Amino acid sequence: MKGDVERVLFDEPAIHRRLDDIAAQISSDYRDRELTVIAVLHGSLMFVADLLRRIPLPLKLDCVRVASYHGKSQSSGKVVFNEVTVPDVADRDVLILDDILDSGHTLAAIRETVQTAKPRSIQVCVLLSKKKQRAREIYPDYVGFEIEDEFVVGYGLDFKESYRNLPYIGVLRKELLEQSSE
Ligand code: IMP
Ligand code: MG
Repeated sequence: MKGDVERVLFDEPAIHRRLDDIAAQISSDYRDRELTVIAVLHGSLMFVADLLRRIPLPLKLDCVRVASYHGKSQSSGKVVFNEVTVPDVADRDVLILDDILDSGHTLAAIRETVQTAKPRSIQVCVLLSKKKQRAREIYPDYVGFEIEDEFVVGYGLDFKESYRNLPYIGVLRKELLEQSSE
């Protein structure tokens, strides 16, 4: 598994240090409000678990499960909600947590769907944001790290459902991506 990673971008201590910063920022911004977190599964699993344990505020946690990739490394643009029920977030201060912002399709679709439940506010937090032109306009309120437009795995992020359990985030070897699109 390790040999499939071309280079490590963020090791475990670097991720945890950055989570300390984001958690402090979120805790300060939401100090007088009750936070409702909506986690986008499965990619955000490690991120959510590690981030929320650093936020000493009363909060609720809901999850949505979406798919847009279907095993390829480019977003298809069609976002399918597997967890169909939209969490009941009427009048709540919602923070959507996702692993990575790429084309923007996923987060735009989730934000629109959550909006229909009439929350008081919606903010977006991503661990990673790719520096690129997006198909949909999404400006996250909290970003862990900005990265180049490369395919990364680990710390929850997958390629064809593998590599999620790597404790670090690294760039997947290009040959592996190319093989899969043949
Ligand atoms: P978007 O809809 O194109 O913004 O893609 C968002 C989703 O695609 C993320 O939640 C990830 O599941 C997946 N994704 C995008 N880029 C990567 C990557 O570099 N590695 C692993 N998954 C990715
Ligand atoms: Mg994925």
